Amino acid sequence: MESILVTGGAGFIGSHTCLSLIKKGYCLYVLDSFVNSSKLSISNVIKILEIDGLDATEFIDIVKGDIRNKSTIRDLFLKSIADKKPIKSVIHFAGLKSVAESVRNPSIYWDTNLISSLNLIEVMLEFDCLTIVFSSSATVYGLDNKSPIKENGKLNPNNPYGNTKLAIEKLFNDFFQSNKKKLKIANLRYFNPVGAHPSGFIGEDPKGIPNNIFPVIAKVAIGIQKKLNVFGNDWPTVDGTGIRDYIHVMDLAEGHIRMLEFLENNESQIVTLNLGTGIGTSVLQLINTYEKVNNIKIPFQFVHRRSGDVSELVADSSFAKKLINWAPNKDLKDMCKDSFNWQLKNPYGFNGPQNN
Ligand code: NAD
Ligand code: UD1
Repeated sequence: MESILVTGGAGFIGSHTCLSLIKKGYCLYVLDSFVNSSKLSISNVIKILEIDGLDATEFIDIVKGDIRNKSTIRDLFLKSIADKKPIKSVIHFAGLKSVAESVRNPSIYWDTNLISSLNLIEVMLEFDCLTIVFSSSATVYGLDNKSPIKENGKLNPNNPYGNTKLAIEKLFNDFFQSNKKKLKIANLRYFNPVGAHPSGFIGEDPKGIPNNIFPVIAKVAIGIQKKLNVFGNDWPTVDGTGIRDYIHVMDLAEGHIRMLEFLENNESQIVTLNLGTGIGTSVLQLINTYEKVNNIKIPFQFVHRRSGDVSELVADSSFAKKLINWAPNKDLKDMCKDSFNWQLKNPYGFNGPQNN
């Protein structure tokens, strides 16, 4: 049996993707330092599968380790060979993702995001593992594009986090050029991944004070946070609030599987794809839907624009439809319902109030 290495597989997007991968019959090694996640996310993935009648324990092996250490990655490849489940492809989620933190401390962003990616691709080549799907971000487009944005939009990230994502795309491109006949690489530029598995067993559990709107709304919805600060009501949009392309995390998970299977069945190549719904939602529209679907109130107030924000960021996802036949199945109502359900069942995330 062959296996897939999922770096950062205990995190928000990683855990949902692990669930979908195991459901499809894949065997996984998860490498995670748990710096921004809990082991319980993977235990809960196993629970969801148990409820579906599947004993997943033999399909997933969790290894605690820091992907900045090349020897840790190498040891895991060796282990997979010893286990007779050699790693044949990689989905690379591991990394740090807070824009504000990256501005305060660019060093750990370059170290964690870029150096780990260099280590990873070097070790992959040592073991003749040639397929990688990488978590890039719409943040690489920066402020200069008009939505909907195609993959050939202008690349101009405006913060260290975004710079590291673009640098990793370039790093992979350089490796592809020098190993032309071999590597299969996909850079997936996610727009705004949100929601949770409908079971409420896994979901987004940011450490510390959340910055992104969904975790904040969810906390306001259950009363842990008093109100939502809406960053600006003077943007050039329908109602003056910022517009984003929210995408359900389970649809995103499916996008990874389609991408991986496409790479496996095709010639060596490097591709870059937007993963979004192509639908823009303003903050006020989001609040309205969240309230209606969950029959609750979200108290909010308008405050100043957040530095580094853009008015509108929406994907043109037509290339993903064409190349890998992927399109989202879930809508904003599903995202709001599943987000609230997760937060209600886990008011303080996986580890209780001490984690917050
Ligand atoms: P997350 O923080 O929930 O998951 C990242 C995982 O990587 C965590 O489990 C963390 O513990 C692990 N990790 C971090 N540093 C590590 C290290 N040195 N060694 C091993 N493991 C390490 O984030 P997420 O939302 O699941 O995002 C996954 C990926 O997608 C990230 O690369 C992120 O930049 C990218 N992305 C996320 C979003 C988003 O809005 N969530 C948008 C675009 C791109
Ligand atoms: C932010 C990051 C981006 C990163 C993405 C995913 C910034 C400037 N951008 O994007 O680089 O790739 O998260 O991690 O941090 N909003 C509020 N109140 C809140 C939070 C957000 O009104 O408390 C608004 C924002 O102004 C925006 C929308 O909600 O209009 C979505 O914000 P957010 O969830 O932070 O995502 P992005 O801004 O797209």
